[in-house]
Amino acid sequence: MNVAEPTASPNESELADAVRRALAAVINPATQQDVVSGGQVSNVAVDSDGQVRFAFALRQGDPGAIVRQARAAAEAVEGIVRAKVDVELPQTPAAAASSPKAPARKQGLAPGSVPAPVPQPGILPGVKRIVAVSSGKGGVGKSMVATNLAVAAAQRGLVAGLLDADIYGPNIPVMFGEERRPSVTGAKGSEMIAPLDKHGVRLMSLGFLLKREQPAIMRGPLISGVLKQFMEQVSWGPLDLLVVDMPPGTGDAQLSLVQTVELDGAVMVTTPQKVATGDVLRGVRMFERVNTRVLGVVENMCGFQLPGSEEVVDLFGRGGGEALARELSIPFLGRIPLDLAVREAGDRGMPTVLSAPDSQAGDALQEIAGRLLAALDQLAPRAP
Ligand SMILES: Nc1ncnc2c1ncn2[C@@H]1O[C@H](COP(=O)(O)OP(=O)(O)O)[C@@H](O)[C@H]1O
Ligand SMILES: [Mg+2]
Repeated sequence: MNVAEPTASPNESELADAVRRALAAVINPATQQDVVSGGQVSNVAVDSDGQVRFAFALRQGDPGAIVRQARAAAEAVEGIVRAKVDVELPQTPAAAASSPKAPARKQGLAPGSVPAPVPQPGILPGVKRIVAVSSGKGGVGKSMVATNLAVAAAQRGLVAGLLDADIYGPNIPVMFGEERRPSVTGAKGSEMIAPLDKHGVRLMSLGFLLKREQPAIMRGPLISGVLKQFMEQVSWGPLDLLVVDMPPGTGDAQLSLVQTVELDGAVMVTTPQKVATGDVLRGVRMFERVNTRVLGVVENMCGFQLPGSEEVVDLFGRGGGEALARELSIPFLGRIPLDLAVREAGDRGMPTVLSAPDSQAGDALQEIAGRLLAALDQLAPRAP
């Protein structure tokens, strides 16, 4: 991001032109054409605070990273403080072709480009429900919530799976205390990876496949490749619920996921303070833009009971997530207190609903799981 010195500020239309020029340097690897002359950018508008907003038409075969690249290019323009991108998802091929700005060009992929997958009807056919646990930023307790939701579902007799899609920082192995390597079955060329079974949940994480010290550095196309493999080449078997633990933010992995498989919805986790709920708002908007229902907001780390005392300190404030949920007319699923036992249990590989079911946090997590499962019961079945 570019924090401009307060020099003579160019006016807003000049800034919009500068943004268009910057975007014209972003090449879409799927078409080998820049995103402006490719007709993917429209409605560029800059406001007096230096925020630019534009629509970006994501097409079939585009890598999810292209949106992030476009945003970064816009934010690098001198005088632009922030870029807001309205992602438009692929429509029918006919509608896309009739875009007025789309030049006559051969459709199809450039050699060597790696297309991002689009939702495939046949993917994960035996899975009844798929829910992503997401957040605007890291460290708010997504993995903790995802872990406990999956285990709570299993405790209720559902066949549950947990897919760790946090390619950058897979921590499901630690939260489940699981270090085995998954076994691979099947003939060469059609191998399947068997998920690990722990605490009644079927698990898959890049962390099981990488060595501990090996960093997982991946960019858009690779991420979608890994996610797709985790859906197609893991023998999940029939599942009532697959929980997907997302990486933080609203970037490639989120887009890749919704392009890979149709989600039943997303759960947004936030801490209660204003900054964090702002991140969640961006997350909610992203899911809306890609037509994914937000099933509810969870407020985590609210209220810390001082050890040996009745006093509760709202370390990160209180109520931000609930207020946001109300404002957006999204269900509020509940709040989880900051509890040392949660972290210690997490580090020991014991989900709270198992290790401290009677704690306030354990109770809260069970309630949240109950509300989520009830909400899922109301939905129509996933498209076969
Ligand atoms: N309510 C809570 N009370 C205490 N520790 C928590 C709570 N929620 C999460 N933690 C701890 O905070 C850290 C970050 O949580 P994690 O689930 O990994 O966040 P994220 O997946 O959003 O990055 C972990 O060590 C986790 O055990
Ligand atoms: Mg995490």
